[in-house]
Amino acid sequence: SLNMDEITSQLQKLGVSQIPTFSGVLLYPQHNPVDVYRAYIIEQIHKITEADPAVINNAVAWTQDLKHGDLVLPVPALRLKGKKPDELAKEIAEKFECLLIEKPAADKTFVRFFFKPAPLASLTLKYILQQNTQYGFNPNLGLEDPSKPDSRRKKLIVEYSSPNIAKEFHTGHLRSTIIGGFMIKLYKAAGWDTTSMNYLGDWGKQYGMLSQGFEKYGSDEELKKDPIKHLNEVYVKINQDNAKEQKPVKELAEKKDELEKFKNPPKPKKPAKGKEAETVPEHKWTDEQEKELQSVIAELEKVQEELVQKPSIDEKARQFFKRMVDGDKEALQYWQSFRDLSIDAYKKMYARLNIAFDDYSGESTVNVEDMDKAAEVLEKRGISEDSKGAVIVDLAKHGAPKLGKTLVKKRDGTSLYLTRDIAANYERFEKYHFDKMIYVVASQQDVHMAQFFKILELMGPPYSDAIARCEHISFGMVKDPKGQTMSTRKGTVVSLADSLDSSRDFMHDVMKKNAEKYEQVQDPEATADTLAISAIMVQDYSGKMVNNYSFDMERMTSFEGDTGPYLQYSHARVCSMERKAAVPHDELLKADFSLITAKEGIELVRSLAQWPDVFLNTYKTREPVTVLTYLFKMTHLLSSCYDAKDVNNKNAKTMSVMYAESPEKKAALMALYDCSRQVLANGMRLLGLTPVERM
Ligand code: ARG
Repeated sequence: SLNMDEITSQLQKLGVSQIPTFSGVLLYPQHNPVDVYRAYIIEQIHKITEADPAVINNAVAWTQDLKHGDLVLPVPALRLKGKKPDELAKEIAEKFECLLIEKPAADKTFVRFFFKPAPLASLTLKYILQQNTQYGFNPNLGLEDPSKPDSRRKKLIVEYSSPNIAKEFHTGHLRSTIIGGFMIKLYKAAGWDTTSMNYLGDWGKQYGMLSQGFEKYGSDEELKKDPIKHLNEVYVKINQDNAKEQKPVKELAEKKDELEKFKNPPKPKKPAKGKEAETVPEHKWTDEQEKELQSVIAELEKVQEELVQKPSIDEKARQFFKRMVDGDKEALQYWQSFRDLSIDAYKKMYARLNIAFDDYSGESTVNVEDMDKAAEVLEKRGISEDSKGAVIVDLAKHGAPKLGKTLVKKRDGTSLYLTRDIAANYERFEKYHFDKMIYVVASQQDVHMAQFFKILELMGPPYSDAIARCEHISFGMVKDPKGQTMSTRKGTVVSLADSLDSSRDFMHDVMKKNAEKYEQVQDPEATADTLAISAIMVQDYSGKMVNNYSFDMERMTSFEGDTGPYLQYSHARVCSMERKAAVPHDELLKADFSLITAKEGIELVRSLAQWPDVFLNTYKTREPVTVLTYLFKMTHLLSSCYDAKDVNNKNAKTMSVMYAESPEKKAALMALYDCSRQVLANGMRLLGLTPVERM
């Protein structure tokens, strides 16, 4: 970690006083070089304007673009009465004095601060070279009281991925996995105590389907080889058989609905004021039609009864699930082996994505007693009501008309997805006493999540206490390049393992094209896999989480543009340069950073100094794209460093001139590159990418 004494003595040498502190202002000079500057800026502005230090701290902002300064003060944000903001800006700029910062410029109502290059380089590179993998992160943010380093770490649960065993692992689950993995890494880097939770869809009638499917179509060998794929295949087949069996029921039910609708047409809406009433078309319901309806109903009942007697696949599935619920050993054994094998296979896939779960919970683990208890609370507080033998909650009656009605208990008494969610939330709160829990669930389930949250809120303590600490992070859909939703049923995709494998093979082919480099890569297959995963993840992170995006293999695997392979290429390139230069680490540490004077080099240093603030901002937005945007900007600055032309010799590159001129200059240059590599790697790791050293 950082040697703060060294930083302080360095500041002293530069002629500035001790880093000032202010009560009510939380700065982290031990983690963030820009916070050193903030401290001096607050001190100066306070001296000049007498504004409150906390207000000044909130007002001083980072800039979107370095050409607008390293930090900026929008003067109106000081909320000072009396002086006109533009005049005050001029006054601040004039009176401002700090040896670390250039004389500021007043720009209308803004004061722009540009850090002096030499001290900035020397400070920033010290931070990075000493903090290495920790540079940018701030483990104080997750403390109960961030100003007290010995206070308790807050507890976070992120529930994500949560596939349904036997059903397909679709792109929605992949997105949940990627985003949830990022949330865990983000909060960990902020010092939270985190738990990764997978809430498997591992309970329900589908196991009754699956066991029949397996008996009819399954193979133990295939199951061992690729359980996810095989179980899905078997599941699809038995569902097709079931659909065939159920076809007459479906047709008769549709006919019945149609007739009933005709018999009782919806009432015309009340006319708006001043408007004429809608004319209702003449409506006749004949005896003949009534006869037809009755015969359809009778036929339907007969067909349904036959299917129960037969018994049909559906009925057998129901019975099988009932046995599971009642604790039948044989039925549960089946279920257990499918579950175990699936989890093993998931784990392998998650490892490829740099993800490991601490807790494999699932719908099956929710206790019946907790569901009963919740049902009792719902009833006692008048939240739920009886509806034809089932239990429902009409959220319109409880101040949420948009959320409509929802079922909490079926007529046959079996539990539902929603009921299990309610009880699971309670159980997790009991077990973990979390400070925060995030559900990473696709936007298709926005209504479900809103209903679930609202119901818990209505239930009162402890349910309402728990849900007040919960948050649903929603995300958009993954479409194919034509903008269609992807699904295995439609045949547009592809299981997750298949799409990971095909992007890996694609990357592998790209790598083979450069035979010379290819030979130096130790495990090309593994590298190709890492690159492919980076491609997929970066594509996923490229927009805001709520947006849909298209899964576009061509685009995401390209080495040009803002892609995963581009980031990996930048990392591998700087690694290769470092290997060639072979400057030992302690020489980098001793380097004289004031030797970095080229414009491009200084821009790069300024960008590296911003990384802790970018992290902080990401912690606020929780959008991975915040990190990504920064990394692309920074790597572009890095690559313009390689290419910058020397001012004195237009035919030479600045950096190579510097490299060749003296060992001191070479060390300074390589320290800058090493720091860039470190920041790039830290950003990539935060996103869940594994930076490669060769490719
Ligand atoms: N297994 C569910 C599905 O695939 C997702 C679970 C989301 N989490 C929750 N607590 N409801 O649709």
